[in-house]
Amino acid sequence: RRIVVLISGSGSNLQALIDAQRHDRLCGEIVAVISNEPDAYGLKRALEADIEAVALPHREYDSRDAYDGALIKVIDRHEPDLIVLAGFMRILTPRFVQRFLGKMLNIHPSLLPAYQGLNTHARALADGVKQHGCSVHFVTEELDGGPVVLQAELNVSSDDTVDTLKEKVHAREHLIYPIAVQWFLQGRLKYSTESATMDGHPL
Ligand code: GRF
Repeated sequence: RRIVVLISGSGSNLQALIDAQRHDRLCGEIVAVISNEPDAYGLKRALEADIEAVALPHREYDSRDAYDGALIKVIDRHEPDLIVLAGFMRILTPRFVQRFLGKMLNIHPSLLPAYQGLNTHARALADGVKQHGCSVHFVTEELDGGPVVLQAELNVSSDDTVDTLKEKVHAREHLIYPIAVQWFLQGRLKYSTESATMDGHPL
């Protein structure tokens, strides 16, 4: 099975997937990594792992639709079974989401449905929540709103800051993303309009 990973930055989640693949914990292969930021460090991680790394700068396109059209073309060339968003900081057009519906996962740094969107750690701290974490979900047209397939939870302590929380959540992301990707590759995860199942059971 073929995986395409989309990134915009450091790509530490990409690295977790590369490591999982290396240790035979993924029954699939990352065939390409695409970044909208040409300087993303994740592209170097891809090259170091002998994975095709593609820079597709959004600034070179006039509209979101034109960019997503170009992105679809590049993705289709790799004939993926799964698209993995790993810190891809772009809002996707409905056309793009529809094209890959049911075969695109994202990881988000909050316990969804809490804290969709940006600055999740600061918002969680400001609210004084006791629990925080991260979620893997299917991507639908609603930003960070698709069905959740796996979450990791952690306790927020009184001396946590945005930076400490960010680090703790990141470490959890690196644990759960490869697991959720593996479930998908094994055919255990299924998306049907606005819900997800695992091994045929609602999640
Ligand atoms: C992660 O925090 C993820 O939850 C969010 O973007 C960040 C990506 O980090 N969607 P990295 O590039 O994988 O290190």
